[in-house]
Amino acid sequence: MIGVIPAEVARAEDPRSKESTVSGDLATHELREEHELILEVLDLMAELASEDAGGFDASRLATHQPAFSEFLESFADRFHHAKEEALLFAHARPFLVHCNPIEQMLYEHALMRELRVAMDEAHRARDLAALTEACAELCQTLAQHIFKENHVLYPMVEQLLSDEARAALGEGYDEVRKRSGGPALRERFEAMRDALRDELG
Ligand SMILES: [Fe+2]
Repeated sequence: MIGVIPAEVARAEDPRSKESTVSGDLATHELREEHELILEVLDLMAELASEDAGGFDASRLATHQPAFSEFLESFADRFHHAKEEALLFAHARPFLVHCNPIEQMLYEHALMRELRVAMDEAHRARDLAALTEACAELCQTLAQHIFKENHVLYPMVEQLLSDEARAALGEGYDEVRKRSGGPALRERFEAMRDALRDELG
């Protein structure tokens, strides 16, 4: 099995993780909060991917795969990544003339979609080895991706964005929140995380 890097790695030494309400990081504050929920679910997925399950029907990873897939698609991709791509990256691109990491981040978003589809296909085929491998790779890749955004891209954006771009971003976030039912979406997946934490003890 591919080694799983704990999601804790993505949080390590993030100087803003506990102080993200200061005005300077409003452009990324709610995205950082979404990263936290994604990392918490990744921790649970990685734990299940490392279990010695003894067959597809006994596998807790397989049991929870439909819920993980829905979380990855509805929250991590269609909500969080969509906000980054349509709003943060779009507003930041004109300011990132040198060392622009956006193309790499977009490539990694696409890679995450492929890995989620690989998990779905393995689940449909009842192939536990393939499911476990794709899950471990997704957990590792997404945790590393979040580390790069938290520590490299977001601080760059926070420094470079103009006040106008910041204001436009805020309006864009408000609109997406209203349109997609952001708080309700988040509550739904927080409940999923809590139930799974209870199950895993
Ligand atoms: Fe992100």
